[in-house]
Amino acid sequence: MNELLEAFWYILPAYFANASPVIFKGKRPMDFGKSFVDGRRILGDGKTWRGFFGGLFTGVLIGIIQYQIRPDFYGSFPIALKLAFALSFGALLGDLIGSFVKRRIGMERGYPAVGLDQWGFLVSALVLAYPVKTLTTGQVLFLFLVTPFIHWGANVLAYKLKWKSVPW
Ligand code: CTP
Ligand code: MG
Repeated sequence: MNELLEAFWYILPAYFANASPVIFKGKRPMDFGKSFVDGRRILGDGKTWRGFFGGLFTGVLIGIIQYQIRPDFYGSFPIALKLAFALSFGALLGDLIGSFVKRRIGMERGYPAVGLDQWGFLVSALVLAYPVKTLTTGQVLFLFLVTPFIHWGANVLAYKLKWKSVPW
């Protein structure tokens, strides 16, 4: 497999973990509806427990499927599992940090934050996954380049399928 395709293969659990919460339609917000010291919500209603665990489950499941298809890419099942968990948990954590930042600067839930929405989850996923399996600098740069397009495409699709009320 070529180097760039391998980078794409590597990051797939993070993409699925980031994109799937929208279909789980969670209700209970992770911040329990509470506000921060600035009077605004800590995270907002867009971050729910069900979405978080649904995303984690989906990302890890994708990693397990990937291991069945290409075990040689991971070397062993525990490595594949650890990588999928780190990528999925990292993506969801980055998304939460992004929402926390958005609320602090006064952006309402669902308001697009260009850069933060597309790269926040990627940075956090890569930081957590890197100790499990490394990438080359070129592969990391490639992921930064393509992820905004994939994020945008996935959101437009989710909007067309009526999973989301806004196409971003
Ligand atoms: N979602 C969820 N739980 C999560 C992450 C996402 O339930 N941990 C669901 C919510 O329904 C959310 C949708 O997925 O509205 C889209 O996610 P995202 O765009 O990240 O949330 P926003 O609604 O845009 O909220 P924010 O402004 O905080 O990013
Ligand atoms: Mg959003």
